[in-house]
Amino acid sequence: MQFVALFFLLLLTWKINPLLEVPVRTPLIAGNWKMNGNRELIQPMVDALRSLSTTAHMVICPPFPLLGVSADALQESPVMLGAQNVHEEVSGAYTGEVAVSMLKECGVSYCIVGHSERRQYFQEDNALIHKKIKRLLQSAIHPIYCVGETLQEREAGEQEAIVSSQITTGLSDIALDDLRRCVIAYEPVWAIGTGHTATPEQANDMHRHIRGLISALASADVAEQMQILYGGSVKPNNAKELLAMSDIDGALVGGASLKPEDFAAIVQAA
Ligand code: PGA
Repeated sequence: MQFVALFFLLLLTWKINPLLEVPVRTPLIAGNWKMNGNRELIQPMVDALRSLSTTAHMVICPPFPLLGVSADALQESPVMLGAQNVHEEVSGAYTGEVAVSMLKECGVSYCIVGHSERRQYFQEDNALIHKKIKRLLQSAIHPIYCVGETLQEREAGEQEAIVSSQITTGLSDIALDDLRRCVIAYEPVWAIGTGHTATPEQANDMHRHIRGLISALASADVAEQMQILYGGSVKPNNAKELLAMSDIDGALVGGASLKPEDFAAIVQAA
């Protein structure tokens, strides 16, 4: 009798459990090649990623001139194509710039915006990045919106305030359904290309803070579904620890995304 009751209790728990579960966010690992790489890197990268058995979403973001040839190589592979920048206007006399329609034509489905290197070397600010995000969303390209504080700002204890203003300006005035298509990458500037990774706890605290902001800005539901990536010296030897954290849903990888075996190992860690 007791055994039968226990059996039914287990059955009931199993049945209602999916209803209680927090929606699972699919991990996303994106590789930011920056101004690196060449044609020869594309095929080994695709081969290394194609053979993985993973449910993680994989994106590579090569420089503009390699987008077309990368799109051909990625056909019939699970790897998606991303760009590193876009211009905020539709078209026109903007020598040297690339329009969203051109990205679309190349088969791009993600685009990094607001990277700290663009903020630092090209004077991009939150207001400009906001325009770029809106432009991408109009063309159904997922923005990967980078936010993060400098070392000086962290030492002054201003990291949450800085990230809050980046999020609220960058993602203001965006419809809920569009917000659902945005990805955020928390990249503390002091961790980019320096070998100094944020500790998993530091990163997770900021991710939780960002999720709270999204919840206030949009809704708890959007916040719960949004993929928030960590970026800054992610390597095969630290990826597992970072990706195991509750609010870290993936990684934006710079240096290690140029080595097929390292990038594949990071995907595997997710
Ligand atoms: P990193 O770069 O992995 O080389 O630190 C990350 C990034 O800039 O996106």
